[in-house]
Amino acid sequence: MLKDELLDKIGDCRLCGLCEGRTNVVPGDGSWEADIFFVGEGPGKDEDLQGKPFVGAAGRLLTEMIESIGMSRDEVFITNVVKCRPPSNRDPLPEEVKSCWPYLEHQIKIIKPKLIVTLGRHSMARFLSGVKISEVHGQPKRAEGIWQDRQVFLPLYHPAVALYDSRKKSVLFKDFAKIPLILKKIDESP
Ligand code: URA
Repeated sequence: MLKDELLDKIGDCRLCGLCEGRTNVVPGDGSWEADIFFVGEGPGKDEDLQGKPFVGAAGRLLTEMIESIGMSRDEVFITNVVKCRPPSNRDPLPEEVKSCWPYLEHQIKIIKPKLIVTLGRHSMARFLSGVKISEVHGQPKRAEGIWQDRQVFLPLYHPAVALYDSRKKSVLFKDFAKIPLILKKIDESP
């Protein structure tokens, strides 16, 4: 499937109940040739209103972190596990994640990112099983991939957590700072 066809499908999606309450679908944003692919959990209020991922307070922090490693939001791709806002920002239900999963898979197959960065434990759990975020945050992990047999994932704390916990915020910035070296190592590995 090509990018425009995929975006049309996501835009018209009625596969789960989240479509009922949405103002806008939030398919994802950034470069479709990005090396880094960020996956959050689901759109919040601001994202639903604007149709763009991570544009609220957590988004501003994510933007700041991306810029702290000398990159811009236009150079990376940012999306979520579900593309429509769960009511009252609750966690998406397993069946909602399941309905939306093929969209995420297609995005990854088109973009072919070198590194998938999961934001928060819910996003992490979709790709890496049997791990705890408090133990693995900031550590690159090779696991079964979507466009590659083995793909590099970097689990990070969710930026929203860092908004209320200054200790986690500094951990998050430190973990984020590892990204350029991780990318370099991926480039150098056979
Ligand atoms: N939190 C998320 O997980 N995703 C967004 O797009 C915004 C906030």
